Amino acid sequence: MKKNSVYIETYGCQMNVADSEIVMGILGNNGYELTQQIKKADIVLLNTCSIRDNAEQRIYGRLGNLKKIKSNKPNMLIGILGCMAERLRKDLIEEKKIVDLVVGPDEYRRLPELIDSAFNGEKGIGVKLSRTETYDDIIPYREDGLQAWISVMRGCDKFCTFCVVPFTRGRERSRDLNSIIDEIKLLSSRGFREVTLLGQNVNSYMDGSYDFSDLLASSAAVDRSLRIRFTTSHPQDLSDKLLETIASNTNICKYIHLPVQSGSNRILEEMNRTYTIEHYLTIIDKARKLMPNVSFSTDIISGFPTETYEDHLATLDIMQKVRYDGAYMFKYSPREGTKAFKMVDDVSEETKSKRLQEIINLQQQISLEINQSLIGTEDIVLVEGESKKSELFFSGRTDSNKIVIFPATIGIIEGDYVKVKINRATSATLFGDLVEVISKRETEVNSIAV
Ligand code: 5AD
Ligand code: SF4
Repeated sequence: MKKNSVYIETYGCQMNVADSEIVMGILGNNGYELTQQIKKADIVLLNTCSIRDNAEQRIYGRLGNLKKIKSNKPNMLIGILGCMAERLRKDLIEEKKIVDLVVGPDEYRRLPELIDSAFNGEKGIGVKLSRTETYDDIIPYREDGLQAWISVMRGCDKFCTFCVVPFTRGRERSRDLNSIIDEIKLLSSRGFREVTLLGQNVNSYMDGSYDFSDLLASSAAVDRSLRIRFTTSHPQDLSDKLLETIASNTNICKYIHLPVQSGSNRILEEMNRTYTIEHYLTIIDKARKLMPNVSFSTDIISGFPTETYEDHLATLDIMQKVRYDGAYMFKYSPREGTKAFKMVDDVSEETKSKRLQEIINLQQQISLEINQSLIGTEDIVLVEGESKKSELFFSGRTDSNKIVIFPATIGIIEGDYVKVKINRATSATLFGDLVEVISKRETEVNSIAV
């Protein structure tokens, strides 16, 4: 009997979520089936993340659990995919005896072959990086739903000194524009309502003479009731043309994730971020002139080597100046192989934590103030389903990616666009009342019983 049931667990960023769908696309074409139950699986795959040490520690913890499961089921294969596979390679197999497969992000096409050899008792290792692999022709495995992620480019050439991604995901390469548009057409016909174009650095997208603005404009033209989002943007490549494209297309969300990392020019230089705070603020100003309602989110690292208290204050200052709608905030974590790894990690753990807490507190206060200023306003919400806490409420998102909770109403299903009037706000959530239905989802899938 063919051993063909696969359980896959995904860690880390949305690129990994998209990659897991590609993996299941490849395995599906080769006769494998997805299972949601680990105990029924012949093959357990962990799609891993190396961005910070704590991400890797979580995977090691998980491998500890899997060891117990495997002791009752010795024929089950365990595979490590993604960034950790690339970073640790054979070490993973030598150190963690229960790992049978180690496959990096550019070798997923070889998975069926590597799985076969692993079932035959050899370890399956595929960790070469490629300059060309984009999985353009693979149709990712996706359940029906509202939101889909499409990776439009892979890798990163920026080499920020703290970041392991250029080493684990290799050089930048872009997918063919037409294949992306075909994928969006397919998603639209299946009733999807939101597509996020993904890349470590989406603004560097290039297919012949088509740049990322061209890709965004063509994606938006497929179906005007399909929201288009994108992430992540690098401040160095965020062009005027791109801002104008976002502004002039109603269904491109007016929401830009623009990692700043630090507010200090000296630290930005040490990080090799290639922009200054002044340049960064010019982009924010331009965007706000073109789109008064545009929202920004960011990534911030606290405690990069040599960061002084003044540098930290500069980070708090840029947060006050931009007033981000949201932020992902991290303590600096040294990653082997990166340039910063050779610097002395001289900010103590205690100081890193203290600074991070100040950054988090400030962001919460800013998010709360922004959200409270929205009380009394109306906004369009894409209904995503019942709220997590109660079936009497629906949850959805605004164009600016804010979660809105409002009373469940008969006749409204997930995928509808509705107008909601905001009447209460916390730093993370808006609450409101339904004003009117703006547009119904055409397919009758996934209706919600009220
Ligand atoms: N330590 C802490 N944060 C990091 N990031 C990337 N590398 C590191 C690191 N070594 C953060 C950056 C990046 C986000 C995806 O993760 O803020 O934008
Ligand atoms: Fe890492 Fe910098 Fe590339 Fe982002 S732009 S993936 S932080 S190297």
